[in-house]
Amino acid sequence: MLYRRDLLSIEDLTVGDIENIFNLTNYLKTEEGKNHKPLSGKTVALYFEKPSTRTRVSFEVGIFQLGGYPLYLDNKSLQISRGETLADTARVLSRYVNCIVARTLKDETVRELARYADIPVINALTDREHPCQVLGDIYTVKEKIGSYKGIKVSYVGDGNNVANSLILISSKLGINFSIASPEGYEIKNEIKEKAIKYAKDSGAVIEFYNDPTLAVKDADVIYTDVWVSMGEESEEEKRNMIFQNYKIDLQLLKLAKSEVKIMHCLPAIRGKEIAAEVMDGPSSVIFDQAENRLYVQKAILSLILG
Ligand code: CP
Ligand code: NVA
Repeated sequence: MLYRRDLLSIEDLTVGDIENIFNLTNYLKTEEGKNHKPLSGKTVALYFEKPSTRTRVSFEVGIFQLGGYPLYLDNKSLQISRGETLADTARVLSRYVNCIVARTLKDETVRELARYADIPVINALTDREHPCQVLGDIYTVKEKIGSYKGIKVSYVGDGNNVANSLILISSKLGINFSIASPEGYEIKNEIKEKAIKYAKDSGAVIEFYNDPTLAVKDADVIYTDVWVSMGEESEEEKRNMIFQNYKIDLQLLKLAKSEVKIMHCLPAIRGKEIAAEVMDGPSSVIFDQAENRLYVQKAILSLILG
């Protein structure tokens, strides 16, 4: 049961929780489900320290559709920008709203918010994880391929927040997962060890490479993300050099299964991590993937607050 719980990491979810989210998402996508309003009279604060298009809009629209009121709070316009503590901000928000959806630079910040808030806190991206993203992603895999158990998802690129959440959810759910990252940009050991432990229980095969051509062999899904995440802008030039062989192009696609699906959490930079003809080509499910964020997050909110 997710009721009144925080969602800070994929680690917080059992396989049963994830299946419940997906089942409710199926319902919310039906005509009847579109009238489901469990958030009637409830307010959800969106506390954001970084830019966002999809997460902000899909949460705001989703909260409205569920009958609730979304309150967007940019950290620069709160008293926190003048020295009020995060703990006091969390205590005060708890007196006014029913839930906090937070996008923070540091993962410790979302955890500190959750520690001092008396209401549930949902991670909407930190430097460590992006759990709502990958829940939408695996829901999309299930929708497109029919099932996720035993399929192969290959991630090419930076061992970043999205990669962390993706390896954790894949290893929990029994999805075979391979990743190719440049040396020095691999997934950190702390996350690797957790994924390997989950994979022992689920039967998932987890593989780590530096060479993208090895990682994508016979893949059902190839996934990528930007080379430069938010907060890493000063490394842009260096990263563009280091990652230049980690582009999803038509040549790389040939090594995967012929019916491979291409995924990207967005925003994307065509010509860098993904070639334009791949992003806009027939194998791409990227915009359906973005749309599913809305429904999966509505399911998460309904289960936590409903
Ligand atoms: N994928 C994603 O979280 O996009 P935004 O940064 O636009 O929210
Ligand atoms: N890794 C990217 C994901 C954006 C949704 C970032 O953190 O900027």
